[in-house]
Amino acid sequence: MSRMTVNNRPVEFDLDPRTPLIYALREAMNLTGTKACGGGTDCGGACMVLVDGVALRSCAITLAEAEGRIIITIEGLSRDRAHPVQQAMVAQQAIQCGYCTPGIIIAATALLQRNPAPTREDIDAAIPNMCRCGVYPRLIKAVEQAGRVARRQERISAAPAPGITPEDAARAVPALRVPAPE
Ligand code: FES
Repeated sequence: MSRMTVNNRPVEFDLDPRTPLIYALREAMNLTGTKACGGGTDCGGACMVLVDGVALRSCAITLAEAEGRIIITIEGLSRDRAHPVQQAMVAQQAIQCGYCTPGIIIAATALLQRNPAPTREDIDAAIPNMCRCGVYPRLIKAVEQAGRVARRQERISAAPAPGITPEDAARAVPALRVPAPE
């Protein structure tokens, strides 16, 4: 059994602990906002999720490695797309087909949490995600806009609240048990 917190909910996966996190999220929890995008060295970053506040490729993490961590997927950032990075991506028209968008928003959120006033070089370094539609110039404007919002709000949040512990979450809602496939 692999235990972790996903979008503010304690989850117990009765799956092979070698299972990549992305498959547990998408196939077992139906959190399909996290996109598969090649895997391994070809991974374009569309599978990124926040792991203890750090944007990581969920195709490259096993359930065993995610044990005890706090995972936030694109679905966990906001219930109504009201997160400042989501709003800025829409406002700057930095979304075309949208396949890369969840991973980019996750990477941008992680960046702005630690640095709400990033330079263009900071943005390039922190968001290595690939976009086959070429939204990069608009993406940079969107991150800068979200940064301005974050600075007004003093910090950008990644709801569920950063810093929540699995113990806190366990008190809030019962654990979701994801059984092994038949
Ligand atoms: Fe299509 Fe980025 S918007 S891959």
